Amino acid sequence: MSREIRKCIESLQPYNAGKPIEELEREMGIKNIIKMASNENPLGPSPKAVEAIKMTAGEMNYYPDGSGFYLRQKLAEIHKVEPDEIMVGNGSDEIVGLITQMIIEPGDEVIISELAFVRYEMAVQFMGGKSIVVPAKDRYAHDLPAMKKSITDKTKIIFICNPNNPTGTMISQKEMDEFMEGISDDILIVFDEAYYEFVTSPEYAQSMVYFKDKRNVMILRTFSKIYGLAGLRIGYAITDKEWVSNLNRVRPPFNVNRIAQAAALASLDDKEHVEKSHQMNTQGKEYIYQQLKEMGISYTETQGNFILIDTGKDGREVYQKLLEQGVIVRPMGMYKLPQHIRVTIGTMEENIRFIDSFKKLYNS
Ligand SMILES: Cc1ncc(COP(=O)(O)O)c(C=O)c1O
Repeated sequence: MSREIRKCIESLQPYNAGKPIEELEREMGIKNIIKMASNENPLGPSPKAVEAIKMTAGEMNYYPDGSGFYLRQKLAEIHKVEPDEIMVGNGSDEIVGLITQMIIEPGDEVIISELAFVRYEMAVQFMGGKSIVVPAKDRYAHDLPAMKKSITDKTKIIFICNPNNPTGTMISQKEMDEFMEGISDDILIVFDEAYYEFVTSPEYAQSMVYFKDKRNVMILRTFSKIYGLAGLRIGYAITDKEWVSNLNRVRPPFNVNRIAQAAALASLDDKEHVEKSHQMNTQGKEYIYQQLKEMGISYTETQGNFILIDTGKDGREVYQKLLEQGVIVRPMGMYKLPQHIRVTIGTMEENIRFIDSFKKLYNS
């Protein structure tokens, strides 16, 4: 019996999410494993979101509001745009996939930076498109002039991840303005800003200016990171009404569940939780920087809630040895950085535990 699949997905690797923590604890015979691998918020969701989740639980017999009416209304107020300029997705990850489904014909080109979030390339490949991966500048950052030079008449989309995962690097307003100048409005520029709320640099490029200028752009944000709702899967896009209406053609009718919508709405009311998460992240970042500096270990300065570290050793082995001490980080082999790991900034207690475990690898 044949089990044929589309040629363009034959080389795609399924996402390896790893085993649940409880199972790892059981297998390895250790307790209190901490996960610093997926850039989640270690403080958890806002208590207001938890309350909203409880309140919504009794309504699960009803389908969710397929249009995300109230959430789009609230987001529109916050961002000073119209509700029709917002589309809500099952995580911003879903929206990345929907963008390529909406636009890419086989052979179309999409420009991506080397060392940018892996999902763009996968989404392009899934549609039979061609990713033009532009080498990173200064080892880790988007090289915007080189990305601009890579534009051809086949280019349909350019993905810009700012701050970038997994490197934590950022693009300044000046760099972005220079990049945006003269780019044809036939090309959609997608700004993936999953870590927007963690940024501390005043030079960070605000992409909303291009949207207000009516450029062909789409801004992606998520509730998975600072809002602590990764498990619920909810993110959104801000873009022009025509793109929203076309995204609505390709998205599943009830893509965002009822609980996620209620929790996201409630989270937006909890500025204190966002502020606390931001502060904790900034403090944690300084602590880890300081400790790594003292150890003479090189790292990349981050504008996100994670730090890319060049361990000077085999990153997979470092990952394994940290795991044995109950600390899960992300090895970076899939990004072709065999010596690196990416660690999510945790609570101070978690950061200390990570550093203590990490130091042990260099003392033996
Ligand atoms: C840069 C970037 N974009 C998008 C996502 C996907 O986020 P979501 O949970 O909203 O699908 C992630 C998740 O890690 C990310 O790092």
